[in-house]
Amino acid sequence: MEIRSYNSNDEVGWLRCRVLSFLDTAYYDNVLKEKEKYENPAIELVAVENDQIVGLLDIEYDDKEKTVCTKGEGLGGMIWHVATHPDYQRRGIGINMLKKAEQIAKDKGLDYLEAWTRDDDWVNQWYVKSGFEKVNSYLHVFFEGNNEIEKVIKTNESKFKVIQAFAHYSGDDSDHIKSEFKRVHECRCYQKSLK
Ligand SMILES: CC(C)(COP(=O)(O)OP(=O)(O)OC[C@H]1O[C@@H](n2cnc3c(N)ncnc32)[C@H](O)[C@@H]1OP(=O)(O)O)[C@@H](O)C(=O)NCCC(=O)NCCS
Repeated sequence: MEIRSYNSNDEVGWLRCRVLSFLDTAYYDNVLKEKEKYENPAIELVAVENDQIVGLLDIEYDDKEKTVCTKGEGLGGMIWHVATHPDYQRRGIGINMLKKAEQIAKDKGLDYLEAWTRDDDWVNQWYVKSGFEKVNSYLHVFFEGNNEIEKVIKTNESKFKVIQAFAHYSGDDSDHIKSEFKRVHECRCYQKSLK
């Protein structure tokens, strides 16, 4: 298994690896059809075995403080994507991609890494095992069905009927929101110092 920089010929393999890795997670319906291109500099790594992309890690980073990251002091790198193909998980691919990315990040003078993830316990365990600390969280709330939609959305457009909606909730009454709506995820911010 080789860990190397992403190149544009990897795009289809990258998209397939990402969608398969996310199927079992709270991000199961977050599907990309094209790999995003970053406005700021980025560390983009893939893990390759038998010509197949089996892991991916994208970190977009600050060249000025608080351009990309929001929470830490100094220059940060934001993990936008980290995934290991489900047939290759728990073999150290994730941690080895991270180690390589951390070395590059330190060489570029970054002070910390930031990551946001939902409430899949096993993914949170990976962040903790990899040396990250939870610093913050808020809720991702999905509204589906008439009952849920009517509680939060009113439209003046009589020809439109809202079928689905998604919102961020950063208020104090998380328990109430969790009891009112069926699909609610805690979105957690993790940080790791590179010093
Ligand atoms: C997070 C992820 C990238 C880790 O990749 P990986 O290559 O399997 O992880 P590693 O082999 O480096 O680390 C394994 C460790 O992570 C944790 N872990 C990973 N999968 C786990 C599982 N299914 N159950 C429990 N712990 C798990 C454990 O601490 C494990 O250590 P252990 O095997 O000694 O118990 C992978 O689980 C994944 O692709 N998840 C889905 C995508 C995702 O949610 N990404 C983050 C959101 S942006």
